[in-house]
Amino acid sequence: MTTIRWLGHAAMALETGGFHILIDPFFTGNPKAAITADQAKADFILISHGHGDHVGDSIAIAKRTGATVICNYEISLWLEQQGIKKAHGQQHGGGFNHPFGRVKLTLAFHGSMLPDGSNGGNPCGFLINLKDGKKIYHAADTGLFGDMRLIGEEGIDLAVLPIGDNYTMGPDDAVRAVKLIQPKKVIPIHYNTWPVIAQDANAWAAKVKAETSAEPIVLQPGEQVAI
Ligand code: NI
Ligand code: MN
Repeated sequence: MTTIRWLGHAAMALETGGFHILIDPFFTGNPKAAITADQAKADFILISHGHGDHVGDSIAIAKRTGATVICNYEISLWLEQQGIKKAHGQQHGGGFNHPFGRVKLTLAFHGSMLPDGSNGGNPCGFLINLKDGKKIYHAADTGLFGDMRLIGEEGIDLAVLPIGDNYTMGPDDAVRAVKLIQPKKVIPIHYNTWPVIAQDANAWAAKVKAETSAEPIVLQPGEQVAI
């Protein structure tokens, strides 16, 4: 069985085939964090881009757990400079078969500067093809783009989409994204962390239900769902 747990903001924890996979583990300084960095379990950590609310506690967690960090090439080099031993760099369109499944980096329209001002390469989303056959698209921070349709052609079981607006897609564009991707299920993230990205997720879910065939799943930080 595979479960996905929302840990607040863009942080997710996947459990699949005995592996713990953390995505964008931002806990320290995250007012909606469901756990602390010390509590996080990780065999793998995925980082979508260089911003502090996504790199988050990755370095401390990777050093404590020995997790392999999967991210773009530029961030992988930066992590090695910070003392991370296992950083696996990929780039857009490139997939790699990791022990838990295949990860392909997708486009994301956003920025990626690292917290210390270093070049964080280009931001990405993740297409995760788990060994149990389930496909997850985690869009991370991005605006709407038409090629989400191409990602949808792969047959997405679960899409994880930002709805916060201001820094990413807002609720209306996120509904348009659901129409392009046509996932079976969709989880909204990257909202209500701060007032600038306050959104009504239940209202968004009602619109998704009315206008698409996807099943919206609104989680509270800390809640999980089986996929
Ligand atoms: Ni960002
Ligand atoms: Mn962000």
